Amino acid sequence: MSACADTRTLFAHCFGGSPDGVWCAPGRVNLIGEHVDYADGLCLPMAIEQRTAVAVRRRADGVVRLRSAGFADTDVTVADVAARAVPGWAAYAAGVVWALALPDFAGADLTVTSDVPVGAGLSSSAALECAVALAVAELCGRDTGDAGRATLASACTRAENDFVGVPTGSMDQQISLRARAGHALLLDCRTGGIRHVPFDPAAHDLAVLVIDTAAPHRLVDGQYAQRRRAVEEAARQLGVASLRDVEDVSALRDPILRRRARHVVTEIGRVREAVTALDAGDVRSLGPVLDASHRSLREDFEVSSVELDSAVDAARDAGALGARMVGGGFGGSALALCEAGAVEQISRAVLTAAARRGLPRPRFRTVTPAAGARRCDRP
Ligand code: GLA
Repeated sequence: MSACADTRTLFAHCFGGSPDGVWCAPGRVNLIGEHVDYADGLCLPMAIEQRTAVAVRRRADGVVRLRSAGFADTDVTVADVAARAVPGWAAYAAGVVWALALPDFAGADLTVTSDVPVGAGLSSSAALECAVALAVAELCGRDTGDAGRATLASACTRAENDFVGVPTGSMDQQISLRARAGHALLLDCRTGGIRHVPFDPAAHDLAVLVIDTAAPHRLVDGQYAQRRRAVEEAARQLGVASLRDVEDVSALRDPILRRRARHVVTEIGRVREAVTALDAGDVRSLGPVLDASHRSLREDFEVSSVELDSAVDAARDAGALGARMVGGGFGGSALALCEAGAVEQISRAVLTAAARRGLPRPRFRTVTPAAGARRCDRP
């Protein structure tokens, strides 16, 4: 059953009766443009079919009851939410209510189910935030066209940064709310501007293979925050507002800072190359750009891991056109651009490489660019 049907069933079980509505939001894979969103950069993510769904029924008594298969039941009040006093997984949902700060929202019963794998670097937390944001905004009659969605995405990022306490950029929330099926999303993180870039790998006999290394990625262990601080410090030393304004990083004296900044500057350039290739219908030439991105993330930005490098190297050796880690790094998933007929052989090679090194057994899925968040209980 889909996450949307599951959450309806869970709602009836937990609260009885029917919700006011059911909304869902997708996870994502970033094609390219990694660790540049918080530097005002460009990135090119796509939404995936895996989704998080919420069923919501409004209440008028200031109580928010949150239920999710597999996580602890959490009851809070709108006042607790205002005080940012919500622990655990429920903080992702409550944080959105806090960030939206809609005076006409006075509580709700809410259930969550998801088929976005948790800890795989596919943005399960952004999917939850965005499903809740769209639900609350629609129930309160707010704008949910593209401009409204851009605002909702910013609120979700604030929830993640200031309520949950993880200093991410805004890429994951923007793609989850603003994606279009059959397209990757060129996102300008400085202006919030977007362009839907047609991306249909199957039409070119290609597949995007996502390799979950089964080594959980952790954004909260301080490494992500450290990288973000380094990028901000590099901009400060170069006397610019963000590394988006920089082409040459050689004036940075500290070698580590220089490498971090070089990753950001070259990665933004690779996003432009990738978009040029897609616009020209030359999807195969994305391959070397993906490879270069991985090298830069591994050597200059140092956010890869043994598991990710093993998956990327094995995929490439077995014939992938290009491969790289995706998301924050330090575990999570990699993607490989493959000839459609080579997916099996590449997956087998990645499995063999992991087994030989004694690494966890990777999991595989092919993904196609999916639609953004939507209400899913109406035709
Ligand atoms: C995580 C963050 C994003 C982005 C990526 C790296 O997914 O949530 O904001 O910074 O890492 O590109």
